[in-house]
Formats: sequence, structure tokens, C-alpha cells
Amino acid sequence: MTASIAIIGAGIAGLSAANALHNADCAVHLFEKSRGSGGRMSSKRSDAGALDLGAQYFTARDRRFVDEVQQWQANGWAAEWSPHLYNHKNGQLTPSPDEQIRWVGQPRMSAITRGLLGDLPVNFSCRITDLIRGEKHWLLQDADESTYGPFSHVIVATPAPQATALLATTPKLASAAAGVKMDPTWAVALAFDTALDTPMQGCFVQGSPLDWLARNRSKPGRDDTPDTWVLHATSAWSKEHIDLPKEAVIEHLHGAFAELIHCTMPAPVFTLAHRWLYARPSSAHEFGALADADLGLYACGDWCLSGRVEGAWLSGQEAARRLIEHLS
Ligand code: FAD
Ligand code: NAI
Repeated sequence: MTASIAIIGAGIAGLSAANALHNADCAVHLFEKSRGSGGRMSSKRSDAGALDLGAQYFTARDRRFVDEVQQWQANGWAAEWSPHLYNHKNGQLTPSPDEQIRWVGQPRMSAITRGLLGDLPVNFSCRITDLIRGEKHWLLQDADESTYGPFSHVIVATPAPQATALLATTPKLASAAAGVKMDPTWAVALAFDTALDTPMQGCFVQGSPLDWLARNRSKPGRDDTPDTWVLHATSAWSKEHIDLPKEAVIEHLHGAFAELIHCTMPAPVFTLAHRWLYARPSSAHEFGALADADLGLYACGDWCLSGRVEGAWLSGQEAARRLIEHLS
């Protein structure tokens, strides 16, 4: 097949599409505004080691994704995580075990997207600002006004608010993306020199500014020390405190953590806050992927399906499937 395809965004959706197209002998080239791959599945290097501040784990329910995750496991990129799970509700912290299989990247979440990227060509630190339609091809322009191309097809694999502007040449796609609102999440990491005296390794939280807690060292392949926890605020709290300075966010969420955990909490030796502006779609959508096949323009991402890692991967597969279908 002779197609040259630009993919904007090297998160799991963009990389899912890239691999499917590469396997169908199409030439792909990725453009990513960050310095590395992964997007919301990336991990941040810090003085407390690598931290998964975005996706914490993922589940696989669709048969195709189950098969894919087994391949990731065979490659050594992913492993099962079976934490001692708790639930916090009405001021009560109770164990909440279940049978769900949960997966994480190993030794950090970003191992999966790094593995999927492999040797595929990519431009990092390259924020695409415009798609320019020629007679039969596309050119991409970045924030420094450099242009790339020509490409026969473009797949936009960014969160919906960032996709809207890039899809402007096709009002039908742009307005579908514009209709998807995405909510923020404040994430905080706290590291303790002395391990907290609790068997808890993950916790779903209700009735608090917090939504979720995870103990980093309980995930496979992570270092033991220090004892680092990742806390996620609820969408509501994050929206309400969207412009709060990071120090104040850390103080609030540290306070909420101390209130719910029933053990002595020493002062953390390391703290960090990260704001995810477009963390999750506010409501569910079933687009699969968006396509204007005649123009060769496609969009995919978690917002086209379930708002989870699985949905993002499936959406990338769907964009690739529709593109390949139109080529043949
Ligand atoms: P992204 O990962 O956002 O990838 C898009 C990429 O596009 C990014 O790398 C971005 O930098 C790049 N980009 C954007 N604009 C441009 C541009 N103009 N030019 C170039 N590049 C651009 N899911 C689960 O299944 N389980 C969980 O436990 C879970 N927890 C989560 C917790 C948090 C705090 C967050 C934020 C998300 C969580 N998710 C979870 C959701 C999961 O992370 C996402 O569904 C999935 O990673 C989305 O992948 P994506 O490829 O669609 O988008
Ligand atoms: P899952 O099946 O583990 O969890 C789905 C939901 O079920 C949880 O949010 C929780 O409310 C409930 N739940 C599951 N197991 C539980 C248990 N043992 N005890 C108490 N409650 C339990 O995973 P799935 O369906 O893959 O969902 C992914 C997770 O990612 C969800 O928790 C979701 O909230 C989270 N997520 C967070 C985002 C953010 O921005 N913070 C964005 C996208 C997903």
C-alpha cells in the first residue's frame, strides 16, 4: 500500500493506530508536543523515582484488547497488579477485594507506549498547530511555523479540545470533537522515608476531595523506597480548584489523605503536583473514531469510546481500520 500517514499525538490511541498501519505496510510518522511518548499514560521521572501520575492501571474487557495486553505481557512491558484494595465511604475505610484483573506498565506505565513506539519515526517537542489541505495531500505546520509533509492522510490522536482546532477543515469532524467536554484531574505524589503503617495499596474514595489513592511500591517492578503515594482529586474538586497554586493543592490533598488513612502520617520528604487539564471525557461517546475518508482525515482517542486506556487503544485500531478499508 502506498500511503504516507501523519499521526498527531503519541499517546496510546496514536500508537495503536500507528502500529496497525505499520503492520499493513503503510508509512507512518508521529508528531508529539511533549518530549516523550505516552500522553496520559506517561510516567514522570522525579527525585522519588518514576511516578505514574496519569493512568494508574487498566482493565481489558474487549477480546481484541485482551489479546493485545497478553502480547505486552509477553514482551515484558506490562504485568498484573493485584493491590490490597480499600474503599473509603462515609468516613469508613474498609477492605474491598475483588476478582478484577488489573494491568500496569512495567517497570513504569510509560514502558507500554515506549515499547509500541519502537523505531517508528517521530518528532518530539513538536506541537502541530495547523493542517493545511493541498490539492491531494496534507501539510502540517507546528508552533515554530515549520512545515512537514506532504502526507496522504492525517490521524489526529489528541484529546478532543485539542483536536477541535486541528479538524477545522472538516466542520463535521470539528463539531463532533467540540461537543466532547473533558474534565480535569489534579494529581499529587507524596513520598515518605518511613513507610506508612497500613496494608492498603489502592483505595477508591467517596465523599472527599480525593477520588483514588495508590501506593507506588505495590506495583510490579517499582523500587521499594521511599514509600510514594499517588493521590487523584475528583473531577469536581479539580474543576473548582483548577487555578490553585500547586503548593496549595498539595496541602489540601495531603490533608484529605491524612484524614482518611487510619495511621500516623509523617511529613513527606518529597511532594509534587500535576494538573491534567483534559483528564477524562465528561460523558460517554460511541464514535469509535471520526473519519472524512474522502479528505483522508481521521480522529481517534479515548473520548471516541470509553475514556479509558482500553477505549483509547480500540479507537486507534478503529481509525486505522477505516483508513485501510478506504485504501483498498
Ligand atoms: P493522550 O494520552 O492524551 O495522548 C494524546 C497525545 O497527543 C499526548 O501525548 C499529547 O501531548 C499529544 N498532543 C496533544 N496536542 C498535540 C498537538 N497539537 N501536537 C502534537 N501532539 C499533541 N484510564 C484507565 O484505563 N485506567 C485508569 O486508572 C486511568 N486513570 C487516569 C488517571 C488520570 C489522572 C488521567 C489523566 C487519565 C486516566 N486514565 C485512566 C485515562 C487514560 O489515561 C486515557 O484514557 C488514555 O491514556 C488516553 O489516551 P489517548 O491516546 O487517547 O490520549
Ligand atoms: P475498575 O473496574 O477497577 O473500576 C471502575 C470503577 O468501579 C471504579 O472507579 C470504582 O468506582 C469501582 N470499583 C472497582 N473495583 C472496586 C473495588 N474493589 N472496590 C470499590 N469500588 C470499586 O476499572 P475500569 O473500569 O477500567 O476504570 C478505570 C479507572 O480509571 C476508574 O477508576 C476511573 O475512575 C479511572 N479513571 C480516572 C481518570 C481521572 O482523570 N482521574 C480518567 C479515566 C479513568
